[in-house]
Amino acid sequence: MIRPAMAFPKSFLDEIRNRINMVELVGRRVALKKRGRDHWGCCPFHGEKTASFKVSEDRDDYHCFGCGAHGSAFDFVMHVEGLSFPEAAERLAEAAGLEVPKLAPESREKADHVSRLAEANEAAAKWFQAQLRSSQGAEAREYLQQRGLGEKAVEEFRLGYAPDRNDGLKTALLDRGFTDQELVESGLLGQPDDGRGSYDRFRNRLMFPIGDRRNRVIAFGGRALGEVRAKYLNSPESPLFDKGRTLYNHAMAREAGRAAGTVIVVEGYMDVIALAEAGFRHTVAPLGTAVTEDQIDLLWQMTSEPVLCLDGDAAGLRAARRAAERALPKLKPGKSLQFALLAEGMDPDDLVRGSGGEALSGLLSSTTPMTAMLWQALLEGRDIDTPERRAALERDIDRMIFSIEDEIVQRHYRDDLKGRMRDLLRPAPRQNAGGQGGWKPNWNGKRQPAEDVSRLKASLAIPPFRSREEAIIGALLKWPSLVEQFEQQLDDLEMRSADLDACLMAIRDALYTAPGLDSEALARHLSRSGFEQVVTRMSAPSAARLDWASERNPPADAVQQHFDATLLRYRIEVLQTDYEEAASEARREVTAEAIERMAALRRALDRAKAEEPTGISGAGGGDPR
Ligand code: UTP
Ligand code: MN
Repeated sequence: MIRPAMAFPKSFLDEIRNRINMVELVGRRVALKKRGRDHWGCCPFHGEKTASFKVSEDRDDYHCFGCGAHGSAFDFVMHVEGLSFPEAAERLAEAAGLEVPKLAPESREKADHVSRLAEANEAAAKWFQAQLRSSQGAEAREYLQQRGLGEKAVEEFRLGYAPDRNDGLKTALLDRGFTDQELVESGLLGQPDDGRGSYDRFRNRLMFPIGDRRNRVIAFGGRALGEVRAKYLNSPESPLFDKGRTLYNHAMAREAGRAAGTVIVVEGYMDVIALAEAGFRHTVAPLGTAVTEDQIDLLWQMTSEPVLCLDGDAAGLRAARRAAERALPKLKPGKSLQFALLAEGMDPDDLVRGSGGEALSGLLSSTTPMTAMLWQALLEGRDIDTPERRAALERDIDRMIFSIEDEIVQRHYRDDLKGRMRDLLRPAPRQNAGGQGGWKPNWNGKRQPAEDVSRLKASLAIPPFRSREEAIIGALLKWPSLVEQFEQQLDDLEMRSADLDACLMAIRDALYTAPGLDSEALARHLSRSGFEQVVTRMSAPSAARLDWASERNPPADAVQQHFDATLLRYRIEVLQTDYEEAASEARREVTAEAIERMAALRRALDRAKAEEPTGISGAGGGDPR
């Protein structure tokens, strides 16, 4: 929106936006009904009988799921009344009781001037494209091929080539009637201070046109093909190009993001293009800087929780934290950021080219929320082993909370962060082996080594799992033929209680060597092989059993069915615990591995749950009743 923004002061347009209520405005023309958070009605832009036209008060926009019409209050008035933008702005200003600033002649001139700069950029884009196709562009084309960029992407992103000359573009655009001054001001030409003539700013570079939200070219990024100091060179800021308010690929992402329901933010131009090629067209990048507050606003206009997908290196993590800190004061109910961190040394381009779109989908299915990101930043490099140091942590948490402007969000952040602090300072859970050592506060070790985590997990896991495991062993002892019938499932089964797991192995061995072994023979064999205790306990009246143990001789198919349900139930419980453990680990240590592990467990858990017939979830209960 360059022209209108130049014609009217931005503050004036913002004031209109603030005062106009979308629902009221649209409601004057369309009968609207509130459903959920939005209002719905029949689309005024195409004939329809069912309401597929949505007006969102949160986002201050409208969207038709039938014909794709979409826009702001300004767009609505422009389309419904057939007005130009300035006319629509005037109409809305009147309705909002605002005085319309006079369009001074010089601002008209300025608007014209800015559109000249846009024309120069457009002409440059065309010229760079032509150079890429020409014989001069052979090396650049080869480079693109080597990086795996398809022709379609090259066309769609309008990639071009700036030849290694001082006056290639300059001559071409002067010929087309642009003035030297216009070309310098648009940033296409550089102007030395010492009075020498202007020259092509971009030389021997692969050119990425940067569009505004309507995809008008407003600047360029140029990637060096030879050995030079700056890998990327961007157009300088100009009346047309405000770096901090621009997103690379904004127009395509805005369109695609509507269907995808989200927007991905990556660091580089190449990442955007690679993702778009892999089907993630709803991807944008900032322009070589950390994400700015204005860019966060732009992202929030597209979606409530944009996902920042950053390189798996120290810089990527720093960028993630900086973005989180920037977004923090501005959070609104429902509006946040999500983070997806790649494995060490990877960027999103590498990921989709190396492992495909599915790998990216996997990563995106288990993002890290803002709070976890901020929490990790708070703890990084900090000791909390003295009361003073813990007090300093608390003070920093308070500062963080108070920086949030929205009261409701602030309240929920307080709950979340204070909860994390309490968990951190809480004594570690008891060890299982006879309580040696008693409890130990959590705060002296910064990071739990892996063995520690799994031991902790095992110690936590035993009480709920043990009875389920006993029920399984008990059933095998009573009906040894189950061993053969469930051979495959038992293959995959590893019990958490070491003694029961060993007993399971012994049972399977026994039936492998002597198929058809009956219950009594099996018990005798196990007793002789060191499992006397287990066998004795399994036959005690208090032993855990499949839950129909009261029945003396259930039919064989009922036995099988209940045994099957018990195995599945056990697997779900184990997965559930592992998943919860992995999730809290991933919140503590935000790494790609931790996140991937959590996602994998979640998928396995969902699959297992889907297998479970409804209504039988209590079956095979191990609790002695
Ligand atoms: P990267 O170095 O990650 O670049 O910088 P990339 O996009 O992955 O490029 P390839 O894969 O090496 O070709 C990320 C972004 O930072 C900005 C650019 O916007 C780039 O896309 N950048 C980087 C600069 O502005 N200047 C530089 O010198 C380097
Ligand atoms: Mn890269």
